[in-house]
Amino acid sequence: MPMKSYEQLLLQNKAWVEEKNNEDKDFFNRLAHTQKPEFLWIGCSDSRVSANEITGTAPGEVFVHRNIANMVVHSDMNMLSVLDYAVNVLEVKHVIVCGHYGCGGVLAAMSNKQIGLIDNWIRHIKDVYRMHLEELEVITDIKAKQDRFVELNVIEQVYDLGKTSIVQNAWQARGGPHVHGWVYDVANGIIKDLKVSMNSNEDMPDVYKFEKTTFTPVKK
Ligand code: CO
Repeated sequence: MPMKSYEQLLLQNKAWVEEKNNEDKDFFNRLAHTQKPEFLWIGCSDSRVSANEITGTAPGEVFVHRNIANMVVHSDMNMLSVLDYAVNVLEVKHVIVCGHYGCGGVLAAMSNKQIGLIDNWIRHIKDVYRMHLEELEVITDIKAKQDRFVELNVIEQVYDLGKTSIVQNAWQARGGPHVHGWVYDVANGIIKDLKVSMNSNEDMPDVYKFEKTTFTPVKK
């Protein structure tokens, strides 16, 4: 009888464990005790954009949050919990928002078609389109327009991270984490740094700047 596809995964897992143990006897023992990743990755759920694989990182090196179109929605408890834990407990040095060209979520946000419940998630991306309407509307080449929209969406998510009380309190307390915006190209595997790194609220519109808190937010 042919092997079922999911059984193949379990077999591959066994092979992977064997390979890891052969390479480094202490690998699992070390990871079992603690994790101290330097990076938080916020990426798309797209099966082609696996955080560890495309950055050549190993288990233990990257704390990961993924959702459709790598969104930082300030009322999303899932994202906020991951962010708070990564920033305040793990004390990551860098938070990377990584989008990808050809992102289905971003492309859907450009269209008027209904897909389902996801349309309400994608609404956040439509807001990005509206914010950058002038720039996007003059791009006539459809691929160029899509690619720029993907980039602008990442940039807005980087700013949205900076607008959270979690990140601003950390900036005040320890000058970090650095927040970055990247885009992955599924067609050639290359990651482009959009050079929007931030580690302070200096360049932010005043209305988003939080004063120093009088209470201790989390551990120092
Ligand atoms: Co995507």
